[in-house]
Amino acid sequence: MKNNPKKAAVIGCGFVGAATAFTLMQSKLFSELVLLDANHDKAVGEAEDIGHGIPFAGEMDIYAGDYDDIADCSIIIVTAGANQKPNETRLDLVQKNVAIYKSIIPEIAKRNYEGILLIVSNPVDILTYVAQKLSGLPERRVIGSGTVLDTARLKYALSQHLNVDSRNIHSFIIGEHGDSEIAAWSSTNISGVPLDDFLEMRGHMHPDMDKQEIAEKVKNSAYDIIAKKHATYYGIAMSVRRICECIVRDEKSILPISTVMHGDFGIEDVCLSMPTILSAEGVETHIPIELSEKEHTSLKKSADTLKNIIAGLDLSM
Ligand SMILES: NC(=O)c1ccc[n+]([C@@H]2O[C@H](COP(=O)([O-])OP(=O)(O)OC[C@H]3O[C@@H](n4cnc5c(N)ncnc54)[C@H](O)[C@@H]3O)[C@@H](O)[C@H]2O)c1
Repeated sequence: MKNNPKKAAVIGCGFVGAATAFTLMQSKLFSELVLLDANHDKAVGEAEDIGHGIPFAGEMDIYAGDYDDIADCSIIIVTAGANQKPNETRLDLVQKNVAIYKSIIPEIAKRNYEGILLIVSNPVDILTYVAQKLSGLPERRVIGSGTVLDTARLKYALSQHLNVDSRNIHSFIIGEHGDSEIAAWSSTNISGVPLDDFLEMRGHMHPDMDKQEIAEKVKNSAYDIIAKKHATYYGIAMSVRRICECIVRDEKSILPISTVMHGDFGIEDVCLSMPTILSAEGVETHIPIELSEKEHTSLKKSADTLKNIIAGLDLSM
């Protein structure tokens, strides 16, 4: 079905879906936003509540709908599924959420969907792979939010440590959105100045220790927040908004989204995050950033962790 570039949908209106819808309403990227949830009343309630902000933000149509209402969207964002409980890893969610995806993705596919499928539920890399297989959509149109959030967390932590604007920090978390993720320090720079030089300039004389502490803090952010407030949702909502912005405006920005890998860095047939040019058509190309040998080895290990999980999945319907 021909897609409407100003229309999007959010499937799953829990903490993440509702925060995402609220953020998208304020963004003015779309003129129509459809909310879907297995609990229809929840979707209706969120649409009404968020709709009450429209007089302050600008006109748009936001309503609870069903699969027939979303077939012509340009972006469908899937946040449905169980979230992490304290001490649970993202990979612990896989069986529950693959079962949920088996009830969602075919509904989209059978309506000849022509837009982009943006996966947010965890484990996001596995579910991006699963969504591509279950939908049969071209790989370039199935993307996961990947490490866009982790990268924002990294920039935020670095900006606080260096006392500099986070938007001037060029750095990526790559690999799994999860415990095996990697901070790509070799390519990190602050407006062109290598990170180690900038650290020294700011009076930090132990770069390796600083980097290790910051990478750990970023990796454990979700665990820390979930222990305190049971879920994370504002950071991911802003990450989804940024991804949508890039697609709607055909920006060709470089974002660390999760996509199917085909040979880059020797990684094949698994989804994980690498810096990727993203356009209105979806994935354009991966960017071969410089990695140290240690980072490359960690990336391959991250890919292997994900591949082992995929090998154990039953994707038959
Ligand atoms: N990718 C990221 O960076 C990131 C960040 C935070 C959370 N998450 C993930 O997002 C997901 C949602 O988290 P949450 O905190 O919003 O959870 P939540 O429990 O608050 O919400 C999940 C929602 O999904 C709905 N749902 C379940 N099955 C459904 C189905 N078949 N069809 C439609 N809706 C269905 C539920 O009714 C519920 O409203 C989790 O998997 C979580 O781990 C991802």
